[in-house]
Amino acid sequence: MAEDPVNVNEYQELARQALPKMYYDFYAGGAEDQYTLKENVEAFRRIMFRPRVLIDVSKISLSTTILGYNVSAPIMIAPTSMHKLAHPEGEVATARAAAACNVIMIVSYSSMCTVEEVASSCDAIRFFQIYVYKRRDITAQLVRRAERSGYKAIVLTVDVPRLGKREADIKNKMIQPQLKNFEGLLPTQVVSDEGSNFKAYADLTLDASLSWKDIGWLRSITKLPILIKGVLTHEDAIKAVEAGAAGIVVSNHGARQLDHTPATISVLEEVVHAVKGKVPVFVDGGVRRGTDIFKALALGAQAVLIGRPVVYGLAAKGETGVRRVTEMLKDELELTMALSGCPTIKDITRGHVITDRERLQ
Ligand code: FNR
Repeated sequence: MAEDPVNVNEYQELARQALPKMYYDFYAGGAEDQYTLKENVEAFRRIMFRPRVLIDVSKISLSTTILGYNVSAPIMIAPTSMHKLAHPEGEVATARAAAACNVIMIVSYSSMCTVEEVASSCDAIRFFQIYVYKRRDITAQLVRRAERSGYKAIVLTVDVPRLGKREADIKNKMIQPQLKNFEGLLPTQVVSDEGSNFKAYADLTLDASLSWKDIGWLRSITKLPILIKGVLTHEDAIKAVEAGAAGIVVSNHGARQLDHTPATISVLEEVVHAVKGKVPVFVDGGVRRGTDIFKALALGAQAVLIGRPVVYGLAAKGETGVRRVTEMLKDELELTMALSGCPTIKDITRGHVITDRERLQ
């Protein structure tokens, strides 16, 4: 591809060209038959607009607040693991791009730069995503390190009691690079000749016994607000609010865990209704266009998280690539708002979209 990409989907091909197959497959792949992987994207396409006209859209503002922080757009960088496989500067490059665009970066527990390295690299607003390990003391230490390094929230990912079956990684015998956060605390990698080493590391470390009562434990070790990431039902949304979550991320982990979960955009409203405005609801999975972001906001999300496109931007062009991906999504959202008659984020309402279910009634 000779020309510069004109949309974020075109970064995927650049990433494929830039990366060894094993790493590209790791980033791009989903679980098992990858039904949900396609569905996350397709479901956005089934939602149509009900644009309003003759509204002054000569000035558009995308700015909003997330947990009280002013940001340039309702976009966050999703936690994705191991950014140095995409680019030598790893999470530091991603964070600098987030800072330049004034969007929040959620740094993954499985990062290849330490929480401190990312924190000292720039002044991006950062949240820290965690898994709970069998060695809870290690999770607790990481939470404290993030708190000390100025991270503003903890994002507890709850959809990985075990790692999903990612068949490309099994075939490629996906390597497990060193996870520097755990240096001196745990083995930082598993090296084996069989299957996915990443999966082997997950089996070694992840605590599958984690349950709702453990949210109390997490709240007892940190003052930071806790977002729960990986909720797909109204039942669990209510439990998350009762457990004291400061926000919910509707997510199926980018279709990397349980295949045949619904597209996240199709269950967002169920969660929003259950939560009744008590805490903000965010969504990720398949967001590839500004129009997708508008649709998510119309269905009640306060912001979206972007996973793969950020990694593809990073792989293709480092910090600049992440910046370009974020800017493209912002530009497309701005245009969508203008063409729908919404000068500010607050003007986006449920009445601006119609779902396939409604159209068929
Ligand atoms: C992820 N995701 C993820 N989630 C998380 O909580 N911690 C993590 O370390 C990771 N790692 C990770 C790696 C890669 C390569 C991908 C693609 C995804 C899930 C991520 O936060 C998010 O939920 C999805 O990526 C959103 O879907 P899209 O935008 O990739 O379609």
